[in-house]
Amino acid sequence: MWSNGPVRGVTSPIPGIWRRVVNLRALADLPSTLHRLQGAGSGTVRADVGPYPVAYVSRPESVRALLDGDVPGIAERGRFFEEVSRVLGPSSLVTCSGAEHRRLRKLLAPAFRPEQVGAYAQTMVTATSDAQRRWSDGAEVVLGTEMAHLTLDVAARALLGLEAAEELDAFTAVLEAGTSVFYRLVLPRRLSDRLWATRLSPANRRLVAAQARVDAFVVALLSTRAARAAPRSPARPANLLDVLVAPGPDGRAPLGPEEIRDQVVTFLFAGHETTAQALTWAFVQLSRHPAVEEQLVRELDDVLGPRPPTQADLAGLRYTRAVVRETLRLFPPAWFSSREAVAPTTLDGCPLGRGTLVVTSAFALQRDPAHWSDPERFDPARWLGESAPAGADGAYLPFGHGRRNCIGSHVAMTELVLVLATTLRHWSVRVCEPERVRPRATVTLRPRRPVRARVVRRPSSGA
Ligand code: HEM
Repeated sequence: MWSNGPVRGVTSPIPGIWRRVVNLRALADLPSTLHRLQGAGSGTVRADVGPYPVAYVSRPESVRALLDGDVPGIAERGRFFEEVSRVLGPSSLVTCSGAEHRRLRKLLAPAFRPEQVGAYAQTMVTATSDAQRRWSDGAEVVLGTEMAHLTLDVAARALLGLEAAEELDAFTAVLEAGTSVFYRLVLPRRLSDRLWATRLSPANRRLVAAQARVDAFVVALLSTRAARAAPRSPARPANLLDVLVAPGPDGRAPLGPEEIRDQVVTFLFAGHETTAQALTWAFVQLSRHPAVEEQLVRELDDVLGPRPPTQADLAGLRYTRAVVRETLRLFPPAWFSSREAVAPTTLDGCPLGRGTLVVTSAFALQRDPAHWSDPERFDPARWLGESAPAGADGAYLPFGHGRRNCIGSHVAMTELVLVLATTLRHWSVRVCEPERVRPRATVTLRPRRPVRARVVRRPSSGA
């Protein structure tokens, strides 16, 4: 699928600034550039982009050391995350580091324990059925929009205990304003993108205004929560919001209002955008591979029969889980991770100056023929053997690795399997021209254009 010519600028003898200008062009076709960087062979290579000094890390051992924070001179966060903090806030679990990060991660852990994820599972199934009640047989839908509404609804109901996504208008505003600034700032494709996202720009002013609305939203959220029934009853099990506001052992609130606000924005954002992209790619892949979809639906009939799925079915839905894993291999929504050199250092013998952005890509690693057999082939069966496929040991990182790995990975896996199972029991989701859907690497790995699909009720469906 991708060509394997030399990496523009990386192997080129063109020096200094011109090499960077040339490399800026490589951003236009990022998937193919990453693929070639991954195959460059020497483990870590310089790949400066525009004004940024950048190094790309390809060897699984080095990738794990990088993500674990084991390379001296490389910080766990960096400039990229400073930009992220304009949207998620400086106290977000995603943007903070060191002791502050360890404290927050420990505090939030109870909201992500398996028994807690079990409590979210029922909401995932209910929200999926609710969303699909609005579908009519044979209608055309924009898949990305459908999935984003659904996963935001799940995050709002399950993590924050909101009744319905309608309460989320303020959040949607910051999300829209935030992502447009964010995408242009973090991955500028041209100089105008950087100007567009400067602090004085109209775009940034919209972001600041939207943030004021989010603050009001969080204040309202906390007062509504205080007025509701006490948590931990079977009718309302504790959720992420309960964990955020629970008093510590000394009886005092562990987080201030701004820290709570940053986590609410972070979890609504991180908890829905990636999951929506993964579901969209899963439906694209199933439309491209009807035999895989048939096998999946057979499994749903065998394991579930006429009833909806529950968390207890996850173990039995082996093939559905394999489809999810294989989708995350070929189309990992979090397609790259970055860290930053804060002192001169070396990795795989490659010298890295202070300020170098050190990146790696799950997208490229998970398609590397050095680790995966027939890597471009969508083959869920590779996950069904006695042991995991060879690449899974080190070259499969859709949820990152180490102490900054995805805290929501069990929530995400549960949601992906349950949404697919709930949907495909009743509906066939036929993506229009699935072969033409191409990835575009923005902050997440999205389809280049909106994906349209026809939703058709299954003949045997009792819905
Ligand atoms: C398919 C869905 C998802 C994918 C592919 C994904 C992927 C990732 C990856 C790769 C990272 C690590 C980034 C790094 O190394 O810098 C990460 C971090 C994170 N994810 Fe996810 N994620 C998903 C769903 C979720 C969900 C459902 C939640 C919340 C409920 C969530 C919350 C977070 C948070 C808060 C972090 C930061 C963790 C930290 O720095 O300690 N993610 N995610």
